[in-house]
Amino acid sequence: MYIFKAAVIGAGTMGAQIAQVITYSGLPVLLKDQNPEAVEKGIETIRKIYQGRVEKGKMTPSEVEQKMALVTGTTTYEDFGDVDIVIEAIFEDYAVKRQVFSELDQACPETAILATNTSSIPISALAAATRRPEKVIGMHFFNPAHVMKLVEVIPALATSPETVEDTVVFSESLRKIPVRVQECAGFLVNRLLMPYLNEAALALEEGTASAPQIDEAMAAFGMPMGPFALLDMIGIDVSEKVADILHDAYGPRMIPATILYELVKANRLGVKSGAGFYNYQDSQNGMLDPLLDRIRNERNAQHDAPHNGSHQNGFTPERLLAILINEAVICLQEGVATAADIDVAMLAGTGFPQEKEGPLHLADTWGIDRVLKVLEDSQAALGRRFWPAPMLKRMVAAGQLGRKVGKGFFTYPMEA
Ligand code: NAI
Repeated sequence: MYIFKAAVIGAGTMGAQIAQVITYSGLPVLLKDQNPEAVEKGIETIRKIYQGRVEKGKMTPSEVEQKMALVTGTTTYEDFGDVDIVIEAIFEDYAVKRQVFSELDQACPETAILATNTSSIPISALAAATRRPEKVIGMHFFNPAHVMKLVEVIPALATSPETVEDTVVFSESLRKIPVRVQECAGFLVNRLLMPYLNEAALALEEGTASAPQIDEAMAAFGMPMGPFALLDMIGIDVSEKVADILHDAYGPRMIPATILYELVKANRLGVKSGAGFYNYQDSQNGMLDPLLDRIRNERNAQHDAPHNGSHQNGFTPERLLAILINEAVICLQEGVATAADIDVAMLAGTGFPQEKEGPLHLADTWGIDRVLKVLEDSQAALGRRFWPAPMLKRMVAAGQLGRKVGKGFFTYPMEA
């Protein structure tokens, strides 16, 4: 299917960035919001992104004008009669999104693909609000969409293979890296990233190490920023919502760390509110430790295991990586994505260090027997959330131990 014209619904943070990406590929785009000021602001955001390119000497002002001429802002469905694909990026509200999908179904040609950028709303439910469920699909971009290369392409229950293929090709035409992901809570990247971030918060709560110590350890491993700096950037309130959704879907192995709730209650929402795990304003100094002390005291009272509150730095990156690798293996078992796509998604979607080639390549480098041992030891010491994915045991039994034997999740050439 050829795509000659696209539309984006919702001109907020994601919608504006996605519309910019579409114009950059040379395609005309309608940018619709319910609110005329939001449309103007969205168009201004697109111009700012281009302006940044001019300042870096990557584009000329006249090229920017050519690209800007491809955007048409609107508050109505008037010009939707000839769109080939729509990407919905309105705020995360189930009822409003269903309403928008039913409106799009009326306004767009019956051949048009209706994609959603939702992070958590079942795509199959949005598809059911239309008469074309085979044409409805998830297209999950990452913030900032004009920088992040990954797009998770998520078929719903009734999505046709042609729609999946067309969406993959369209994503590639936007110079993105599309990865096919089966519909599940958190999709792929958030499902792997959140347990990793949550584990950091649990280690902090226990007093295993301080936030800067844990962040430094993960930066030394190669992450572009530590888990607490990232949680502060994402927003603690947003992270808490994602953590709740994952807990609801996957059960006890994803119980959210108490500190997330405590921070939200204390209005420490991260960078945007001036403080989260870190303080971004002097007035907030000294406010985190009392929250942590309270959590530790309550836990000690329950478990009769006193902790003196000092940061001993018994932290190693293995703890966070093991939980991430294990969830990646569970996803592989469930057929959520292929091993290669899981690694590509984590490299392109989270800044997982390129030289480590992704969590499953990392598992092969550690050795599957060692991954299993770390998980079993952590399970004994820290709890059942480290329960090893059965596939790991099968691999060890079969001698598929990773790079050292030439076969693990991937195959490796062996020296003669
Ligand atoms: P936002 O709050 O910045 O923008 C939402 C926009 O939708 C607002 O301008 C609002 O006026 C508009 N809107 C609401 N109802 C509408 C309607 N019926 N018709 C037209 N416009 C309407 O939201 P944001 O952060 O851009 O998120 C949008 C979607 O993208 C959500 O589904 C979110 O889960 C998803 N997402 C967000 C990411 C992020 O980091 N912000 C990352 C990936 C996905």
